[in-house]
Amino acid sequence: MTLHLRKQLVSILACGATCLTAEVGFSQQPIVTFSNQPSDITISRHIYGHFAEHLGRCIYDGFYVGENNTTVQHTAGVRNDVVEALRKLNIPNLRWPGGCFADTYHWKDGIGPKESRPAIVNTWWGGVTEDNSFGTHDFLDMCELLGAEPYLAGNVATGEVQELADWVQYVNHGGRSPMADLRRENGRDEPWDVKYWGVGNEAWGCGGNMTPNYYADVYRRYATFMADWNNSGGIFRIASGANSGDYNWTETLMKNIPHHLLEGVALHHYAVIDWSNKGPSTTFSEEQYFRTMKSAWHMEELVRKHSAIMDKYDPDKNVALVVDEWGGWYDVEPGTNPGFLFQQNTMRDAMIAGITLNIFNNHAARVRMANLAQTINVLQAVILTEGEKMLLTPTYHVMEMYKVHQDARLIPVEVQTGVYKFGDEEVPAVSVSASLDSLGNTHISLVNIHPTEEQRVTVNLDKTYGKVEGRVLTSGDLKDHNTFEHPDRIQPAVFNDAQLKDKMLDVRLAPFTVVVLTLHGS
Ligand code: AHR
Repeated sequence: MTLHLRKQLVSILACGATCLTAEVGFSQQPIVTFSNQPSDITISRHIYGHFAEHLGRCIYDGFYVGENNTTVQHTAGVRNDVVEALRKLNIPNLRWPGGCFADTYHWKDGIGPKESRPAIVNTWWGGVTEDNSFGTHDFLDMCELLGAEPYLAGNVATGEVQELADWVQYVNHGGRSPMADLRRENGRDEPWDVKYWGVGNEAWGCGGNMTPNYYADVYRRYATFMADWNNSGGIFRIASGANSGDYNWTETLMKNIPHHLLEGVALHHYAVIDWSNKGPSTTFSEEQYFRTMKSAWHMEELVRKHSAIMDKYDPDKNVALVVDEWGGWYDVEPGTNPGFLFQQNTMRDAMIAGITLNIFNNHAARVRMANLAQTINVLQAVILTEGEKMLLTPTYHVMEMYKVHQDARLIPVEVQTGVYKFGDEEVPAVSVSASLDSLGNTHISLVNIHPTEEQRVTVNLDKTYGKVEGRVLTSGDLKDHNTFEHPDRIQPAVFNDAQLKDKMLDVRLAPFTVVVLTLHGS
């Protein structure tokens, strides 16, 4: 196969004064050019957030095995191995309880003595009966164990304004009040000070099939009564956002919701081939691989265009774009409940994660929070469990390698790349982002999504560096994945194919490879 190199602008960086947006030219090999100085933009650690819905085996049998479980090590029913693995990711936040489930969830069903909690039917996901043994206290205490900030998604479609206002008071009010007193009766004295709140979910679909104008009005009512109480950091309200390219949704919200009521606007986009024919998670064809990559790369255009609309109404970027659902979505594993969305996770998923996180990093001025769907046993999970066994997926390893970017300063990069061509269509082969951390180390994450061709990347640096170190995630086959029999088939290894030469770095990226490099000072 010949290497296709095209004149192409791969990323337009939202980077203010240091912005490099010039169109780049032809090249014999991928070229990455650093801005001469890091930007003043911080890559929020919250871009590396996760999502845990009451869906399939994510909460029950994933995070939570119950207080009475005698075979799995746990703390108050939460798996210790899961806590340890997520802490290693520096998990910054966790969204709960949905998803579509959030707009059916009545939080008061999940507090108080477990034996008195009512059973409910999970109408969105498999029609299973849940006993509400995992509720508000269980989730917020688990977030404390994880060292993660909770992100609670409120029920707008089947709930009431009072119900959501009460939830905020229950978890955030430190003094005496009806809800704070109820919390104390249930064993928790101090409030949890929850900052992040979703006002419904997918209001255009499972969250009520609303029009954007109608939802904007509903949002205004709910947001008005979500008081700050004594949460010292201030409450952060996130409006239910657009479905992929529904730009009118974002426009209507930005125009019709007063910005003093709005801290974030969401966006959902899944890397899916075709909603009615999603294809298998492991035995996919090259065409299916290409279509997944195309859908993952579409995030770049979505973020750019939704950000441009937000810029029109909010040029100072006070309102964050919150991509609170993203990831690959395939057919469920054969023989599993179709409502449980359980899928395996291969090197294809590592490519999705690598590309997407680079896109978020490069647009960190506006994208300040994101949530991979979903953490355990659902969609593009970072962890799979089976009884006592737990495994880490390739996506987990990408998140772990990329954690060096959390809260680091963005270094804008201009990327000139060849393409991965399939039939008459093509996508960029290489994706890159870079940052400078608080210790003065520079980090570069590079992805080559091409299934068969290596990429020899030249990085033009901002200055000379003394030393480069790296880690790589790759495997023999794109379809490779970790299994309970072979849980460590795919894991990061030391990378030796990067050489420094003056102000230049030469990197050899094998096909379907994720690499993270660290450059130490001169
Ligand atoms: O993540 C699975 C589902 O996808 C969520 O519940 C919903 O918000 C989205 O459609």
